[in-house]
Amino acid sequence: MHVQGQAYAPAPEFVAQANVPGMESYADLYRRALESPERFWAELAAQQLHWFEPWKEVFRWNPPFAQWFVGGKLNAAYNCLDRHLGSNGDKIAFLWEGEPGEQRRITYRELHRQVCRFANLLKKLGYGTGDRAIIYMPMIPELPVAMLACARLGITHSVVFAGFSAEALKARIQDLGAPLVITADGGYRRAKEIRLKDATDEALRECPTVRHVIVYRRTGSPVNMQKGRDYWWHELEAGVEDECPAVPLDAEHPLFVLYTSGTTGRPKGILHTTGGYLLQVTLTMRWVFDIKPTDVYWCAADIGWVTGHSYIVYGPLSVGATSVLYEGAPDTPSWSRWWQIVERYRVTILYTSPTAIRTLLRQGDEWPQRHDLSSLRLLGSVGEPINPAAWEWYYRIIGKGRCPIVDTWWQTETGAIMISPMPGATPLKPGSATLPLPGVVADVVDQDGQPVPPGQEGFLVIRKPWPSMLRTIWGDPERYRQQYWERIPGVYFTGDAARRDEDGYFWILGRVDDVINVSGHRLSTMELESALVKHPLVAEAAVVGRPDELTGQAICAFVSLKGSGPWDYDQLAAELRDWVAREIGKFARPAEIRFVEALPKTRSGKIMRRLLREIVTAREVTGDVTTLEDFGVIQRLIR
Ligand code: WTA
Repeated sequence: MHVQGQAYAPAPEFVAQANVPGMESYADLYRRALESPERFWAELAAQQLHWFEPWKEVFRWNPPFAQWFVGGKLNAAYNCLDRHLGSNGDKIAFLWEGEPGEQRRITYRELHRQVCRFANLLKKLGYGTGDRAIIYMPMIPELPVAMLACARLGITHSVVFAGFSAEALKARIQDLGAPLVITADGGYRRAKEIRLKDATDEALRECPTVRHVIVYRRTGSPVNMQKGRDYWWHELEAGVEDECPAVPLDAEHPLFVLYTSGTTGRPKGILHTTGGYLLQVTLTMRWVFDIKPTDVYWCAADIGWVTGHSYIVYGPLSVGATSVLYEGAPDTPSWSRWWQIVERYRVTILYTSPTAIRTLLRQGDEWPQRHDLSSLRLLGSVGEPINPAAWEWYYRIIGKGRCPIVDTWWQTETGAIMISPMPGATPLKPGSATLPLPGVVADVVDQDGQPVPPGQEGFLVIRKPWPSMLRTIWGDPERYRQQYWERIPGVYFTGDAARRDEDGYFWILGRVDDVINVSGHRLSTMELESALVKHPLVAEAAVVGRPDELTGQAICAFVSLKGSGPWDYDQLAAELRDWVAREIGKFARPAEIRFVEALPKTRSGKIMRRLLREIVTAREVTGDVTTLEDFGVIQRLIR
């Protein structure tokens, strides 16, 4: 394949050692997957995973509901732990660093023991296959331990990011109807304690389904323990056995639910099952991260997001890799922290987000230059398009021009990386996620599903079901159908806009729905608006994203107030920002709040967010305004 324009071909030394060496190898895999997808996936599933019982049918499609490896039995925790014990039991699974500086090295054998012990503890409380648990923990090894113990028994877990507020936690516990919450007293971030148990207590005031709360002692600060409901992890664990057999589970057994923002105010519980999910996260570790037994791999995301589920927990452990796990912030105690970690553990693969790269870039080159980063051989990016300046800095200053950058496009819904370079094959173009991985049939189409010509913008869709795709939205199959499979007939709609160039490379342009991407975190405008209108003084609110140099997009909220004041607008803006932080989490705090007399609406009363978007980006309104009820509103807003 010939690639036009400025492209970085992989270095011959990299190709020579790569898991997928050269474009012919990629093209060959892609062709085989396209020609006979079922055979392709079945061969890989047999080769990459341990099965207790083989499947009877590779794929069953009852659109839009997919089943993969029907009748097959396996266990995700067994694949992540037990199968490595023979030859790799003493290999390190996690190199953990707490923000205050503690270090722990946990081997596969030790991780296995801890997971078994915690699983036995869960059994003791009466939990098993078919139950559900919420996990709300800091980035400590006990977080993956809790996840894997659930997976071992067939308890479906839902991890809630520790940055979420009590309100957001409550909504997730209620939606999942979970009887069990696993949390900690707290964790550390920017040298401050995040008080997770306090937030849990607040959430649980309105969660009647919860029978047990297990609390891990991380910070040691005093917490309230409710008798008969709350138990210390270490106390329950005393006396349990070190062995606990992994339950053979159906390939379609629900492994986890992860909540993400959609286009309405209510978060969606994205459901992933066991076999297909594990297969694709395992494969992408090999294809995209080119993982080798000697690598020290570091995905610097949070386990509370899908990136951490797939590329800190299930993917790396399934391939038996050694990973770094870091609890805290990149600036604590100084902006050297990340580079110190790379140097200390001789990290070879680093995976992070464009926002993090831009933040680190702003601190100046001195920080990385003080450290030996020569162990790095591969860099990755995820969450939003990476801009040229950040790409260049990552490539030159961090990778010293030696390390390919894999720009990986995927979503909570896709489970695993879908469009990305294979670093020993694909020539890179900064800013492009390049080409779909084998088995991924991606396209850019118009409203009716017709492919658009090269260079033209359209909707990014996936034409064929893939093993790690979401199976449904928890408790709402109809929403699943409408949201993903009905917008554009017959294909999976990603919610992203994209274009392809002459070489077939994909350039992702961002969301086309009411989802804002702030620092790689998805937030729905509706969710933010419903948080704002809960405030007693707010009459109406409309939220739009505006471009931001650091965070990709920033939240801009237009708010009209009840009554006539007088108001102290600065103070009220600060109060509303804190209000949103309390309702959702600090990361959702609006960057800007504009107080307005009225919001632009259609005659039928719909807020015209498109106009607000134009106002915050271009400061003028160009599109069609004939449906607008009162044009004066727009003139006053622009002023
Ligand atoms: C965006 C994160 C451009 C996209 C794994 C997608 C990207 C949303 C990229 C999913 C990328 C993710 N280039 N945009 N490499 N990766 N996105 O569910 O808009 O938190 O739809 O999953 O992030 O975000 P989510």
